[in-house]
Amino acid sequence: MSITLEDLAAFCRRRGFVYQASSLYGGLQGFFDYGPLGVELKNNIKNAWWKELVLLRDDVFGLDSAVVMHKNVLNYSGHVDTFHDVLIDCKDCKVRFRDDEMNGNPACPKCASTNLSQPRNFNLMMNVNLGPTHSTEGILRPETAQGVFVNFKNICDSFSPSLPFGIAQIGKAFRNEITPRNFVFRCREFEQMELEFFVTEEKSDEFFKYWVEQRLNWWRKIGVTNIRILEQNKEELAHYSKATTDICFEFPHGFEEIEGIANRGDFDLGSHTKMQDQFEIRAKVKHNVDSVDKLSVFDGQKHFIPSLVETSAGLDRAFLAVLTSAYTVEELPDGSSRIVLKFVPKLAPVKVSVIPLAKNNEKIVEFARNLYKNLKENDILPVVLENGGNIGKCYRKNDEIGTPFCVTVDFDTIGQGDPDLVNSVTVRDRDSMEQKRVKTVDLVAFLKAALG
Ligand code: GAP
Repeated sequence: MSITLEDLAAFCRRRGFVYQASSLYGGLQGFFDYGPLGVELKNNIKNAWWKELVLLRDDVFGLDSAVVMHKNVLNYSGHVDTFHDVLIDCKDCKVRFRDDEMNGNPACPKCASTNLSQPRNFNLMMNVNLGPTHSTEGILRPETAQGVFVNFKNICDSFSPSLPFGIAQIGKAFRNEITPRNFVFRCREFEQMELEFFVTEEKSDEFFKYWVEQRLNWWRKIGVTNIRILEQNKEELAHYSKATTDICFEFPHGFEEIEGIANRGDFDLGSHTKMQDQFEIRAKVKHNVDSVDKLSVFDGQKHFIPSLVETSAGLDRAFLAVLTSAYTVEELPDGSSRIVLKFVPKLAPVKVSVIPLAKNNEKIVEFARNLYKNLKENDILPVVLENGGNIGKCYRKNDEIGTPFCVTVDFDTIGQGDPDLVNSVTVRDRDSMEQKRVKTVDLVAFLKAALG
């Protein structure tokens, strides 16, 4: 059964995944706080991305650059001049729309009035004033990519890499979206997971195809399978881009982009390098009179500006795609139904829940507490200890947050039942709901194997 975005947002609030930011004071549109389960899920997605794109490779360097950037970075990147949305105001209902939301319709999408303002450009970047007199201007980066370009020379100096190589980073980006909407799909503060992969011009088409394939495989591996690719046609391409492919996912509100893969040629390093005239820069770049470094590489014969293939995914959209993919409502044989989040185990925000069957039985509670501590010490994390009592309720709650295994300590475990079952526990599988008896000495190995 599919779920609406409104229901998913309500579910996320109820179960502690995502809250509206500053809700105590009425909320701030386009900003969200990730709760205890949300932050775990988000971290697990980040870790899966970082492992695949940085740790398992020997040609990619990691980076964590500053969020506030010098104005010149965004000036030479082209954002100051061109990072606009076209905005139209309805003079009657006072609602603002992006031009593309009007779909060429001459009437307000909300109240149908034709009393509209002229379209005007609206720059999406957020400025900050720094220092005691607020006199230094900075800009909150609208994409993490710019942090990579301004560190290109630093990384080349420290590690002397040869092409092809990449620089990856995960971090916050800020855009003053005119119409933040669709829950965490379009926010004003969000996170990106970006890889900038530097190659020779001759190899750029080959690497572009390679990265589209790699990224599709990664989404499928984390359980996001309802995806399609959309190749941008020549008219849609940014002026510097040779090719762009969007990976789109079927969100509750429609098929929309979760990641863009672009062959950006030499535009980015060509824009930020000093002495542009010394290189044969193919992209149309702004004349740079402020940069203090050359962003070129040497191939043994000549110095040149490398080309770039970029993969740029939104973490908040990944979060929404993972949740939507995992969200399942199942009819049970007794006529009831259950909500279950079928995360791949490594993404589950809670891995194991330990449940004492009788919360008033001191021996059972004590055994459960020790088992819980032991799982923690053995890195089965996060693990939670339930208060116990109603086992059905505990199972239902854990299904709803996607806990792969529930471990129940009962009377048999503590020697007040079947003597053959002393020091063993029941392990319930979230998806099949099957229960297995596992000896406590084997529990860590069993769970580690099952969780992968
Ligand atoms: N460096 C290239 C770049 O930033 P983009 O298409 O503007 O390209 C890349 O953004 C990804 O960032 C998108 O595919 C989307 O997943 C995410 N993203 C962009 N704007 C967003 C917003 N307002 N809220 C949440 N995610 C956003």
